[in-house]
Amino acid sequence: MILLDGKKVSNDIKNEITLEVEKMKERGEKVPHLAAVIVGNDGASLTYVASKVKACERVGFDSTLIRMSNTTSEIELLDKIEELNNNPEIDGFIIQLPLPKQIDTQKVLMAVDPNKDVDGFHPMNFGKMALDMSTFIPATPFGILELLERYGVETNGKHTVVIGRSHIVGRPMSILMGRKGFPGNSTVTLTHSHTKNINQITTQADIIISALGVPDFLKAEMVKDDVVVIDVGISRVPDETSPRGYVLKGDVDFENVSKKASYITPVPGGVGPMTIAMLLKNTLLARERRQ
Ligand code: GUN
Repeated sequence: MILLDGKKVSNDIKNEITLEVEKMKERGEKVPHLAAVIVGNDGASLTYVASKVKACERVGFDSTLIRMSNTTSEIELLDKIEELNNNPEIDGFIIQLPLPKQIDTQKVLMAVDPNKDVDGFHPMNFGKMALDMSTFIPATPFGILELLERYGVETNGKHTVVIGRSHIVGRPMSILMGRKGFPGNSTVTLTHSHTKNINQITTQADIIISALGVPDFLKAEMVKDDVVVIDVGISRVPDETSPRGYVLKGDVDFENVSKKASYITPVPGGVGPMTIAMLLKNTLLARERRQ
């Protein structure tokens, strides 16, 4: 079994980006500037956004964190987006999801300038992705592709089973794995809450990408020998023995599934750090395109 070490690979990517930023500085160019908007006080979201800002500092990007209250109206958020779209200093920005109930997420995502949409959530960018056009690929799927590529995991002709059809991970992942090229050329099955007999499908899978958010969902008896397992789940499970009061758990029963797997991502230290590295990569791309 080979561990797909997202912590190590994301560090390599951050080092590569740091070198690019140093070259930009030497040429007297402006460095990339990422802004992140967070609405409300959700603990997990605040942690994610803080890691994104910290990662910007680490590679030499400028960053701006915009915190808005839980009672922010849709109009107020749309005004903020308009301001960021028009601010020439900002190369790319993200609106951290989920948003509070009073705000229509689709409306908000459609207001983001597609050229600054480093999350790749705007329908124009999502459509371009599906049509193999150059675009911003959403950071988590992009990170998974990068891990498969850097470890040379064969995807050609393989049966890839994606669990979960979220707009952020499952749906784009199912499209990307079926695209022409490497990583890609897979035969893809997208499973979700209405899928019947999921065990029958997962036991046929050469590659399983689970983005469900149910701790320990994927058990050893649901996979075949030598399966490749990508665990995107990251749930906070209460644990009194931990200093934080919770532990992070993936969708995969790692202890038992790893015994059968050829490659597997750990949680934490697998897909999570890759997401942040690829957001930085998209921000670098946004800067280069604006140059
Ligand atoms: N919430 C969970 N994942 C993500 C992500 O990749 N980007 C944003 N903006 N919000 C998220």
